[in-house]
Amino acid sequence: ALPSRVTIWEVGPRDGLQNESTTLTLDVKLEFLRRLAAAGLSVLEATSFVSPRWVPQLADAAELIAALPQVPGVRYPVLVPNERGLDRALEAGIAEIAIFGSATESFARRNLNCGMAEQFAMFEPVVSRATSAGLRVRGYLSMCFGDPWEGTPDPASVAETGRRLLDLGCDQLSLGDTIGVATPGQVETLLKAFDEVGVGVDRLAVHFHDTFGQALSNTLAALRAGVSTVDSSAGGLGGCPYAESATGNLATEDLVWMLDGLGIEHGVDLDELVRTSVWMARQLGRPSASRVVTALGGS
Ligand code: HMG
Ligand code: MG
Repeated sequence: ALPSRVTIWEVGPRDGLQNESTTLTLDVKLEFLRRLAAAGLSVLEATSFVSPRWVPQLADAAELIAALPQVPGVRYPVLVPNERGLDRALEAGIAEIAIFGSATESFARRNLNCGMAEQFAMFEPVVSRATSAGLRVRGYLSMCFGDPWEGTPDPASVAETGRRLLDLGCDQLSLGDTIGVATPGQVETLLKAFDEVGVGVDRLAVHFHDTFGQALSNTLAALRAGVSTVDSSAGGLGGCPYAESATGNLATEDLVWMLDGLGIEHGVDLDELVRTSVWMARQLGRPSASRVVTALGGS
């Protein structure tokens, strides 16, 4: 059965902007966040406390957090890979972080500069210190459905790696199709594999990139299986600088259009959101990848 309500985890400000060759000004980023909150999105993944050498687009994380619009009911999780990132996030007064692991060795090396086994050693003190400080911690698992260097990973091993991330103390795990190659049958299979290692859909979220146009179908498969937190980015911004074949995330507008059609609550004002993405497309100098933005946004 489909859930009656879905939490949309908006990743545009982080996953979207980390992959833009144009580095936007702090003011434009803040305006983006303000508009997303005004459109009714309640979880805004704001930025990353990663190495500024690795992701220069988000080097202004501390300044951004200091200037965030405080809107009642709006959460601003940030990405944190290591203790250095946690120190910076704590100093900024962050209430919620996300660690990001890899289901494959190749991507762990490229994205985190360490191996699959070493990533747990890096995350362990981050999660234990964060949870003792009262922070909420989400885990991401990348390359769950396909990896550009290793092909399709085995669902049972993906589930095992994911369970280990959750066991560190994460309250939710988001399953990433980093390069956007998954198809709906794979989604069903992977959710079953997680169930077999004792992880139910209530602890899982889905994170689809739309490279092959399957993100919305994959999302529907996940909703049918009982998942009720879906990651997406306004206007379909996004990608990953360390996975060349990755393109934008599932567009939040496309997700909202489908949820409306299914009668599933989400709390987002679609017109306001489309206006935001049209505005952002102007800032970036190229049209939005979202079909719904194109259909509703005028030209
Ligand atoms: P490293 O180079 O091995 O780190 O990177 P290091 O510990 O050797 O440190 C090197 C330098 O970076 C040092 O500075 C550190 O202080 C500094 P130096 O002495 O040379 O001046 N440093 C930091 N500075 C600020 N904040 C920090 C930090 N850490 C080290 N947190 C590291 C290892 C993990 C840091 C690096 O690989 C990194 O930052 N990786 C992040 C890559 C990234 O952000 N990728 C995109 C996000 S993941 C994603 O998009 C996928 C997702 O969307 C889900 C999906 O789609 O599947 C989540
Ligand atoms: Mg992503």
